[in-house]
Amino acid sequence: MIYIKSPEEIELVRRASDLVSRTLAEVAKWVKPGVTTFQLDTVAREFILDNGGKPACLGYHGFPGTLCIEVNETVVHGFPSQYVLKEGDIVGTDCVVELDGYNGDSCYTFAVGDIDPKVMALLETTRESLYKGIDAARAGKRVGDIGNAVQSFCEHHGYSVVREMCGHGIGKSMHEDPEVPNYGRKGIGPVLKPGMCICIEPMINMGSKNIVFGDDGWQTRTKDRKPSAHFEHTVVITEDKPEILTTFSYIEEVLGDRKF
Ligand code: MF3
Ligand code: CO
Repeated sequence: MIYIKSPEEIELVRRASDLVSRTLAEVAKWVKPGVTTFQLDTVAREFILDNGGKPACLGYHGFPGTLCIEVNETVVHGFPSQYVLKEGDIVGTDCVVELDGYNGDSCYTFAVGDIDPKVMALLETTRESLYKGIDAARAGKRVGDIGNAVQSFCEHHGYSVVREMCGHGIGKSMHEDPEVPNYGRKGIGPVLKPGMCICIEPMINMGSKNIVFGDDGWQTRTKDRKPSAHFEHTVVITEDKPEILTTFSYIEEVLGDRKF
């Protein structure tokens, strides 16, 4: 069941999305060698609570963090831990905030100090693929057009697209219909309509597309242990071009000259 949101509901998703965007910028201030991923999680949780929001991942089906932490080969849903970030790592921080009953969801993959130029290229392509997907999210088009845009761009650059996890609708729940795969064919899947709020979140691997699930049922990593990158925006379909409700601009202010 796909819920079309009223302008009032879209405003609420917009506000939750703004808070999650500002939360990730707080996290950005702490991403450096020597910091644990548990510290990043604490920064995010406190910022959300101080701003009247609820860390929506915390306790969701038993998930133990405010952030999903994705270090290097971790694809998604990694747990915050005592792992100490080191120069050359990448770390994805995926966060959902609930504010006044509505959710916003975003993810950014950061570089810890200087990283391998090849990994930098993976981050660049993955972030760009998110915007390719968003640009395809037009009223009258279909969900498959989004996935096709992401997949063709990433595969053209020699990367592979994770199949097991997808983007999703968002609103009162963090995961609503439709599923939004990052792969697929043009012209298939549900029709996009104005007022639909969706999360587009390419998870892109440097090596093969295969992933493995940990015994905890959550944490996933690439099978070949090569790095994986992940970026996500919450978007609303309009009559015209899609409106991006989350933003990386707060993160970019913090990063300054750093690219990721
Ligand atoms: N953006 C992630 C997703 O859509 C957030 C997951 S939160 C968790 O799957 F609680 F499920 F971990
Ligand atoms: Co999501």
